[in-house]
Amino acid sequence: MGARHLYVHLPFCAHRCGYCDFVTVVGRREQHGAYVDALLRELALEGGVLAEHVETVFLGGGTPTFTGGSELARLLDALPETDELTVEANPETVTPELARLLRAGGVNRVSLGAQSFRPHLLSVLERRAGPDDVRRAVYLLRDAGFDNISLDLLYGIPGQSAADLECDLADALALEPEHLSCYELEAKPGTRFTHAHGDELARQADAMEGYFEQVVDALTAAGYRWYETANFCLEPGRVGGRDLRARHNLAYWWGRDYLGIGMGAVSTLAGARRRNLPGLGRYVAALQEGRTPPRETESLDEATKERERLLLGLRLDEPLPVADVAGALDKKAAERLVAGGLVELTENGGGPTVSLTRRGRFLGGGVTVELLA
Ligand SMILES: C[S@@+](CC[C@H](N)C(=O)[O-])C[C@H]1O[C@@H](n2cnc3c(N)ncnc32)[C@H](O)[C@@H]1O
Ligand code: SF4
Repeated sequence: MGARHLYVHLPFCAHRCGYCDFVTVVGRREQHGAYVDALLRELALEGGVLAEHVETVFLGGGTPTFTGGSELARLLDALPETDELTVEANPETVTPELARLLRAGGVNRVSLGAQSFRPHLLSVLERRAGPDDVRRAVYLLRDAGFDNISLDLLYGIPGQSAADLECDLADALALEPEHLSCYELEAKPGTRFTHAHGDELARQADAMEGYFEQVVDALTAAGYRWYETANFCLEPGRVGGRDLRARHNLAYWWGRDYLGIGMGAVSTLAGARRRNLPGLGRYVAALQEGRTPPRETESLDEATKERERLLLGLRLDEPLPVADVAGALDKKAAERLVAGGLVELTENGGGPTVSLTRRGRFLGGGVTVELLA
């Protein structure tokens, strides 16, 4: 069976936010058309690895909604039919026309990068959108018929206080999004952002655990399921039984195969991980010549796959079958962590499972690393 998930990278952004480490290209409006041509060529070259039924497609960036409208429409038109089609959008790019274009192109989920509703924090992040742009974007998307909107929030922003975060969470909840992703801000050493905010980033790092608990407490109290370390969705009981978890991201956490196209895009296919190299010029040039883009490939042996499955699977709130990760799991460490109240080993009809307790989930990666054999 082929890959059931497709990621499409659209790297263009209006400007570069100081904290961002994604593969992006500023401006270059005149090259959006050539880039979309290259994407479609890559899809034609690689599409054979996709299953007949593609369950999810995710357009990520960069700022996919900064891509020229006619180019974006052309791309959406050429994508395979799918159950979940997500597009990442920056609030300031959302207009009634864009919302209609996305709808007409079959998009049924929008992930909106709010980051914060506090003007002073948005300015530290060098964001273009203000709080009212975020609200307006949500209203416009609702008007266009979107009933699955996710908001991204960041915490640990230089200058942020617990009270700021409380207000951000309340402002986000007031918009009644179906889904929220709340990330702790990561600042890469050596970047301009880290240089500018070094001491304050250290102060924020000390507050991070408290912020994390604050996020989980506020969102679960508001009726959201904490289904992955950083991800929350409305409980099915509140939305007529709909499962609003991000299906595309679930595929990553479950360790499924996926095809990624575009510059810098990663794919995991048949025991290998490959990454298209960044660099707009060489990506477009290769595909114009009918060649696959320059890329690096790493083979994934069973042991590596099991370790990844353990590390990613334990981010979820569902128990992980021990049989899927048996080689990667240190049984002695697991028993020790069970005694410490951080891990649960459960025996049910389908065989033993492993999961993190609520306290284990707050400690997250640290506990999972201890579980690795
Ligand atoms: C591919 S990014 C960008 C999407 C969109 N261009 C935007 O800026 O809203 C997706 C999400 O990753 C998160 N993100 C970006 N940089 C981050 C960082 N340094 N640390 C933690 N999360 C980050 C942001 O919440 C962002 O919305
Ligand atoms: S708009 Fe998004 S992808 Fe672009 S630079 Fe800013 S954070 Fe990065």
